[in-house]
Amino acid sequence: MAQVIIDNLYKTYISSVSKFSPSLSLGVIPNSPDVEQNSSTSTHVLKGINLEIEEGEFMVLVGPSGCGKSTLLRLIAGLEEITAGKIFIGDRLVNDLPPKARDIAMVFQNYALYPHLRVYDNIAFGLRRMNQQVTSTPLDQILTTITAKLPSKWRYLSESEKQIHQKVTQVAQMLQIEHLLERLPKQLSGGQKQRVALGRAISRNPHVFLMDEPLSNLDAKLRTETRGQVVKLQKQLGITTIYVTHDQTEAMTMGDRIAIMNQGEIQQLATPLEIYRQPVNKFVAQFIGSPPMNFLEVNYQKPDLIIHSHFKVVLSAKWQEIFQQYNYEQIWLGIRPEYFDLAPPSSSTIPVIVNLVEALGNESILTVNLEGNNQENLQVKLFTDEVIKIGDKLNLSIKLDKISFFDYYQQRNINLIDIDNI
Ligand SMILES: Nc1ncnc2c1ncn2[C@@H]1O[C@H](COP(=O)(O)OP(=O)(O)OP(=O)(O)O)[C@@H](O)[C@H]1O
Ligand SMILES: [Mg+2]
Repeated sequence: MAQVIIDNLYKTYISSVSKFSPSLSLGVIPNSPDVEQNSSTSTHVLKGINLEIEEGEFMVLVGPSGCGKSTLLRLIAGLEEITAGKIFIGDRLVNDLPPKARDIAMVFQNYALYPHLRVYDNIAFGLRRMNQQVTSTPLDQILTTITAKLPSKWRYLSESEKQIHQKVTQVAQMLQIEHLLERLPKQLSGGQKQRVALGRAISRNPHVFLMDEPLSNLDAKLRTETRGQVVKLQKQLGITTIYVTHDQTEAMTMGDRIAIMNQGEIQQLATPLEIYRQPVNKFVAQFIGSPPMNFLEVNYQKPDLIIHSHFKVVLSAKWQEIFQQYNYEQIWLGIRPEYFDLAPPSSSTIPVIVNLVEALGNESILTVNLEGNNQENLQVKLFTDEVIKIGDKLNLSIKLDKISFFDYYQQRNINLIDIDNI
């Protein structure tokens, strides 16, 4: 168990690219030194990451593909060189420590199992390395060597191997891979390999777990089950965990806190509920929540009116106070799909036409168009028994205590910005 501190971390990849001068097209022989020139390009992948992960905390890094999640994890693991900044694990600055001195266990996005070792030995591998100091008698060693090639249940087990056996069995049961212990990695499906990789990391007792999309190859049911098991186990062991995913449901259900990344920067760091209720900007609001938050371009008219071509709403006292010193008219109104209701027509309801209906049994998710306006779409989650069909005309009221506003250009949540500094 250890705290992990990431202090102003940068990662830039420099790659050299060959450029050909126009003389190539004029028939000059390729590879001649005048024709090919080398130049380098820099890709700034991480741009000043600051993150403090508490001892025993489950921290989820989430963000779209290419935003730098795996890179950050690889820097913490010591698999890549840092461009600038510091990483501390416990109270040690680990910038210059090799991976194995950092006492971490990592599950990679593309799980790397030892191809020549059976599943049992893949899981036992890290445990054996940790147990190297435990002295075994010469007889132990001989019997272990002689029986090593036998299936695990017939092998000779020294005292330390008995402990390892117990641990491997326990982890395999938990991950539902007991029946696979005698197989080689090439005899496994993608999802099975992923669970073995997870088992190998879990069975050791590292200071920190680093997990990079460890469940991405599992089917939906197994994924939900394994998600629960990983969280339960992490809580039991109390091992600081940094977990990368681009699945927002995984982030919401697993993390003590979530760091939402975009283009090499952390957009927001908070608990799942804080992020859901108070997203700092439009990017975060759109990223967390399924279906995502809806946005409508509206005008604010002092002191208390929000005006859209299809409806008008009067702001509550709370919003009037927030808007008091706000001088812009054009803003984004953000409404989550579940914060609409069916209501009789009035100036404050939105007239819509149903475009698509997904009836999920307990709820219906509708995609609707604003009446007479094909440009603006809304996604609406309704908990109703009423049968709704494509082409139906509905009136939607908005739960006004649940709305958000974002400023038009910078896209920050108006509720959270310091109005004096706009
Ligand atoms: N060796 C490299 N040289 C140049 N660019 C790289 C290198 N490795 C990664 N990148 C770039 O860095 C960016 C971040 O990559 P990274 O693998 O961290 O993304 P990610 O957030 O894990 O995405 P995903 O969800 O798809 O796994 C990408 O744009 C990628 O192309
Ligand atoms: Mg990745």
